[in-house]
Amino acid sequence: MDTFEAIHKRQSIRKFMDIPVPFDSVAQILRAGMDAPSPGNLHNYKIVLVQEEGTIKKLAEAALQQYWIETAKVIIVLCDEPEKIERHYSKRGKDLYSIQGCAAMAENMLVSACALGLASCWVGAFEEDMVKRVLNIPDNIRVQAILPIGYPNEAVPRPQRPDIDKVVFVESYGRKFDMDEATGYWSGIFEKKIKKAKKTVEKKVEKEGEELKKGFMYFLRNIKKKLNKLFQR
Ligand SMILES: Cc1cc2nc3c(=O)[nH]c(=O)nc-3n(C[C@H](O)[C@H](O)[C@H](O)COP(=O)(O)O)c2cc1C
Repeated sequence: MDTFEAIHKRQSIRKFMDIPVPFDSVAQILRAGMDAPSPGNLHNYKIVLVQEEGTIKKLAEAALQQYWIETAKVIIVLCDEPEKIERHYSKRGKDLYSIQGCAAMAENMLVSACALGLASCWVGAFEEDMVKRVLNIPDNIRVQAILPIGYPNEAVPRPQRPDIDKVVFVESYGRKFDMDEATGYWSGIFEKKIKKAKKTVEKKVEKEGEELKKGFMYFLRNIKKKLNKLFQR
């Protein structure tokens, strides 16, 4: 499965088969998480892997009684260590970077689980103190996310996504995105850049310019079809 396929295929699954998850899959998911960008490359996270059925039950309870979690075969509990990052990046590091770092890890993990034929669902609703008690997590560590993992045992309809023009602006916040306009606008800029590039380093860029031009023509021919397909879920 390629990257885009896994990204698009990933869905929140809340019912898992009674089949164990092989450890090499868990290891691949962990690796994918650790390969996510990390603020200052500090990697100020800690991960607790849970397989014990009794502990999984307690985590479901701590996750505001989301009992579907009990069907998971493995749970990854993602934590961060805010002190370390605060020393480097003060309050912003603690309040933002650290959380975003864990979010980047979580998404990598969810996508890679999907690529391995597994499924998961990001769980953010939990009583942190309770999770900490269940897993003996020290006070200076925060629990950021719980990822129950298993083989999917349900098919759920694809959740709605907003229309692109409701959430994407062009160049300035509030400047509406229009597919036709954006395509034209983008290609206009693209063309200008090719011309500019040609002027700057004539010889070298002439060849590259031709390549770019070819790419540009291809872009024009296919872009609308592709974009429309992409945003019609
Ligand atoms: C930060 C965050 C917290 C979430 N917490 C929960 C949760 O506690 N329980 C749950 O069932 N789903 C949770 N979700 C999953 C969302 O409900 C789900 O991603 C959303 O409905 C879109 O569905 P999809 O993941 O299939 O695209 C959470 C997602 C995120 C990003």
